[in-house]
Amino acid sequence: MAAAMAERGFEVIGVDISRAAVDAVNCGKAPVHETGLEEMIVRNKSRLRATTSPEDAVLNSDISFAIVPTPSDKRGAFELQYAKYAFRDIGRALKEKDGYHVVVLTSTVLPGATRHGLLPILEKESGKKCGVDFGLCYSPEFIALGSVIRDFLNPDFYLIGQFDEKSGDLLEMVNRKVCLKEPVVRRMTIENAEIAKIALNSFVTMKVSFANILADICERIPGGDVDVVSDALGSDSRIGRKYLTGGMGFAGPCFPRDNVALSFLCKEIGADGSLLLTNDTYNRELAKAFFGKLSSLVRGGETVAVLGLAYKPESHVIEESQGIFLARAFADSGIRVVGYDPLATQGAKQALQDQVIVSEYLAEALQDANVVLITTPDSVFKNLTVKDILGKKEKVTVVDFWRCLSEEVRVHPSINYIGMGRYREELSAQARLHELWA
Ligand SMILES: NC(=O)c1ccc[n+]([C@@H]2O[C@H](COP(=O)([O-])OP(=O)(O)OC[C@H]3O[C@@H](n4cnc5c(N)ncnc54)[C@H](O)[C@@H]3O)[C@@H](O)[C@H]2O)c1
Repeated sequence: MAAAMAERGFEVIGVDISRAAVDAVNCGKAPVHETGLEEMIVRNKSRLRATTSPEDAVLNSDISFAIVPTPSDKRGAFELQYAKYAFRDIGRALKEKDGYHVVVLTSTVLPGATRHGLLPILEKESGKKCGVDFGLCYSPEFIALGSVIRDFLNPDFYLIGQFDEKSGDLLEMVNRKVCLKEPVVRRMTIENAEIAKIALNSFVTMKVSFANILADICERIPGGDVDVVSDALGSDSRIGRKYLTGGMGFAGPCFPRDNVALSFLCKEIGADGSLLLTNDTYNRELAKAFFGKLSSLVRGGETVAVLGLAYKPESHVIEESQGIFLARAFADSGIRVVGYDPLATQGAKQALQDQVIVSEYLAEALQDANVVLITTPDSVFKNLTVKDILGKKEKVTVVDFWRCLSEEVRVHPSINYIGMGRYREELSAQARLHELWA
């Protein structure tokens, strides 16, 4: 946010409790791995500085964005602890400030959290009144790791939950200057924005799960092909094609916790969140179901290669990664497993310890593999050739969860190619269909 806002012409002060993060930004380095971030920090050095002092930042700016972690707690709700610390610091700085200032919470929180959990801290610490002396908004970003900068500068819309008109006006002005196109802005109460943020994420996960159900159906029905079905469905303007591919379940640091958190809230306020919980359970069981479908492909003494250990392509993040789950499941059943990922080697090594060999090289991971699982549609895997996969082996089974490998690989007689989401004879429901309808 800091770098991208500086790029769009704002003077920006970044604040973090981490000295390392602050030093990195001030030295022109990216404190986290993200596409294009370091170059952007370097390009905008004259407008961007970082500090560990919230007071310095608040006194020398007009608007503060708080985007601290809100990890899941034991109940599945989003913890406010870090946001409370940040709001305490901002409140104390506001006490010293003469002019008007707007505070924007960007972190993901559950409905009611901003007004009831955080606003009182600002008022208590500053001794000032929200809506009079300072403003407040809840305005989360819709960004995906790996494309954070692009998403941040080109959002489908801005979601502004405003305490009052004046707070929303200032934030909208900032958003309009940041956005690379004419922005769509949705302004509403803080609570409606809190609901909209988590609802959007939850809805997208339902599309993912729905596509995965279709993939399962297609594998059992002769001629079934989830891509054909999804393309048709996606042509309906009520549905749309995005997130409807059918592959592995949703994973990563955000999506898996959103349904749990929203269903927690539903329970607390007397609403029915059973659909959300069912979606979450379905998704968590999916990798187990894949293992059940695939375990018979591997014979004792054989090696499985799992290509794709991050939760998605071009990412180093392994949180809730289904590739990691599958690697572990095969290893637990006594199979030798070699994993590979272009970016997630370090994280995967830590997570899989000595259970699975995590190779630094794709060729090494493929060398002895009798069964190859392609768990992310990474371009490195899409470009695999028959020679890469076969090496000196006579026959290799390739399981392609995203149906992304080349025609050459798919049809080669020495490769037993399994495109998940497409009809597989061993799962055939042909006889049952006949019984049902003949
Ligand atoms: N990562 C994503 O893809 C994503 C997407 C949308 C929303 N979010 C939400 O954004 C929020 C932040 O997530 P993240 O992934 O950037 O977290 P993160 O852990 O990567 O980064 C948070 C930063 O906040 C700093 N911090 C913690 N407490 C602080 C305090 N009191 N004052 C100043 N700095 C403090 C940490 O040192 C860290 O550098 C969460 O609510 C998350 O749900 C994340």
